[in-house]
Amino acid sequence: MISTSEAPSLVTPPTRSWETANPVLTVDDLHVQFQTSKGDFKAVDGISFELRQGERFGLVGESGSGKSTTALAIMRMIKPPGHITSGRILLHGDEGTTDLARLSPEEVRRLRLSSISLIPQGSMNSLNPVRRVRDHFEDSILAHETRTTSRQIKERTAELLTMVGLSKDVEKLYPHELSGGMKQRVCIALAITLEPKLIIADEPTSALDVVVQRRIVETLAAVQRRLNASVLLVGHDMGLLAQFVDRLGVMYAGKLVEIGTIHKIFSAPEHPYTQMLISSLPTLSERGVFRTPHQQVKPTPAI
Ligand SMILES: Nc1ncnc2c1ncn2[C@@H]1O[C@H](COP(=O)(O)OP(=O)(O)O)[C@@H](O)[C@H]1O
Ligand SMILES: [Mg+2]
Repeated sequence: MISTSEAPSLVTPPTRSWETANPVLTVDDLHVQFQTSKGDFKAVDGISFELRQGERFGLVGESGSGKSTTALAIMRMIKPPGHITSGRILLHGDEGTTDLARLSPEEVRRLRLSSISLIPQGSMNSLNPVRRVRDHFEDSILAHETRTTSRQIKERTAELLTMVGLSKDVEKLYPHELSGGMKQRVCIALAITLEPKLIIADEPTSALDVVVQRRIVETLAAVQRRLNASVLLVGHDMGLLAQFVDRLGVMYAGKLVEIGTIHKIFSAPEHPYTQMLISSLPTLSERGVFRTPHQQVKPTPAI
């Protein structure tokens, strides 16, 4: 097994001033419905938010609250019986603003990976088992830049693998030869192949153990800083999200019920569901609650 080098540590540089940067994405009153036998189901029910350049934005909420549907809608990857019923998905760039919701499938395909890229939920299990890691990079690069030479592809692959904390020799391996954490790093590297300005990561750490989860989030942070990209990180783990994001949106039943800086959400959560999420996080004063369940069911008071 080829060893991985350590991912760069998560240190936020003081110069990261997303607050004053220009908006990269504006989601405006987005509605997504699924047609079911029981009628139309509103999976995303009128959500609005904005992401600035270099910003790390988190979307948190329980399973089924509409997080993945939001991510897929932004990528224009909702499949029937689902469809975007209304709203705007504005991608702002040097050449002006584009409403992704109005683009043709071919126009959207060109923007994917180059401007906006998705690490889908469960992506690490979607690597093609009969193709080596390097073939995945070759496919991604050639799909957009057909004239890239094999030498350039090899160099770019090595650079991308190094950027996510993997040895460049990983290119020779097949997916089954990689650990879960390595596979997820490969997926992050694939997503940034064309240096997109917006990266959407849908639960990139689920199914990984906690130590690897943290390293993956640190890797994402390092990549984000390097590209000065904006990241939309979808998750259900408030603790993990809090380590990474600048602002957080809380989803509940297809709606964004609260949105604010991580400091604001943790210090003064307004919505009852947000309050519940925060109160469910373990604190040091609650250590021991699960250790002796027969004798002690209440948290020990903080000293
Ligand atoms: N293909 C589909 N057909 C019908 N309903 C769907 C489909 N995909 C998602 N949904 C519904 O949309 C809601 C939101 O799903 P999703 O966005 O995957 O939630 P989350 O990512 O927050 O767990 C769920 O209630 C789910 O049942
Ligand atoms: Mg999901």
